[in-house]
Amino acid sequence: MTAPLRLGIAGLGTVGVGVVRILRKRAALLSARTGRDISISAVSARDATKDRGVNLSSYAWEDDPVALATRDDVDVFVELMGGSEGAARDATEAALAAGKHVVTANKALLAIHGQALAEQAEAAGLMIRYEAAVAGGIPVIKALLEGLAGNEITRVMGVMNGTCNYILTRMEADGLGYEALFEEAGKLGYLEADPTLDVGGIDAGHKLAILSSIAFGTRVNFDAVELEGIQRIELEDIRQAADMGYRIKLLGLAQRTARGLEQRMQPCLVPANSPLGQLEGGTNMVVIEGDAVEQVVLRGPGAGEGPTASAVVGDICDLARGMRVPVFGQPATTLEAARPAQSGLPAPYYLRMALMDKPGALAKIATALGEAGISINRMRQYGHSEPTAPVLIVTHKTTRAALDMALSAMQETGVLAGDPVALRIENL
Ligand code: NAP
Ligand code: HSE
Repeated sequence: MTAPLRLGIAGLGTVGVGVVRILRKRAALLSARTGRDISISAVSARDATKDRGVNLSSYAWEDDPVALATRDDVDVFVELMGGSEGAARDATEAALAAGKHVVTANKALLAIHGQALAEQAEAAGLMIRYEAAVAGGIPVIKALLEGLAGNEITRVMGVMNGTCNYILTRMEADGLGYEALFEEAGKLGYLEADPTLDVGGIDAGHKLAILSSIAFGTRVNFDAVELEGIQRIELEDIRQAADMGYRIKLLGLAQRTARGLEQRMQPCLVPANSPLGQLEGGTNMVVIEGDAVEQVVLRGPGAGEGPTASAVVGDICDLARGMRVPVFGQPATTLEAARPAQSGLPAPYYLRMALMDKPGALAKIATALGEAGISINRMRQYGHSEPTAPVLIVTHKTTRAALDMALSAMQETGVLAGDPVALRIENL
């Protein structure tokens, strides 16, 4: 039998502990599948005294992840700490410099430094695997890198953040507010160390930027993702959307257009009876469209210990088997710097706003829309809470640029009480 594959694992939180558990519980199965034993040489986290619910006594402990990453008895550095800078970046770079392969679940690191890390790894003949970085337990990276390699990919879209989907579906089902749901998502192990990355759409934006790179052969460009989080979505929006037969989802979409590479991650209304509309809780869905395959839909748990650890262990198995694939599917030096494009395709929009309850207020809003060339499909004033009147408008198809023009004209009218909520309607 080939010599064991020796791991150094930095990060023993939700994902790290999950990985240790699978490696211990399934040692014989993994050995049978890969043809070699997979062993853990050393581990690292911030607090050596914390009880993590797994027995770590047979592994060496390193306080410093860089020291762990460069140990002689480590073949693969498994980075499960998180963050685009600091320990995660330093230790990953050190591991590559020391000739170690890397497995990571860290989308922030790859979305910001993926190009440089891929170039460093490939120049040294090393692999970086990151299945867990996008959509948790769904093998979407593998699907794009390997199974769909024969396709020109035309579009990638989906729901890629478990926390946001959990919050949005539980808000609708149980009428709960953000605070209670944050606590629940935390207990389920879904949240990032900084949960504003989740609700701000940033975590999902990181994931979309990584998928775009593989799908379109472009350098990861997270800065070009049009980004909007779910923080402004209220129970009222969820109820109004449901009333019209829609659900609100944090939806990502990346596609090549004649204007350049469009990447957007934003809350949208999708038909409640569509596959995306029916996603519940921490479930993710990624839809990939290619010229030969047409459409592939991948659905599964997007966060939490088991699913994420499953993806990390899958990557470790690939390395144990000796698999070699360029980090983003083609040599990093050949990836193109794509021209970013703002989303141009027109869509209907949902607008919710509170108006000062005075004569002519509604007319001013209708005028602002009309002057931007936007036609109203439905409009209604519902309920009444002195001194403002809540108003809901659904537009006919329009562009985001025209809508932005109308929204800024509305601000000038002096009849708005607060900023309107504007959500794209995707009739998938
Ligand atoms: P977590 O529960 O917060 O665990 C992070 C671990 O990293 C902790 O053990 C922590 O040590 C350790 N750590 C943090 N900074 C460190 C430093 N400077 N030096 C040494 N150790 C350090 O996070 P997680 O949920 O497992 O996530 C880990 C990674 O997986 C992140 O990149 C995350 O984005 C990604 N991910 C998570 C999920 C998920 O569902 N949770 C899914 C996909 C991807 P202490 O325990 O001692 O504090
Ligand atoms: N915080 C992330 C989520 C973890 O909720 O989807 C999985 O990447």
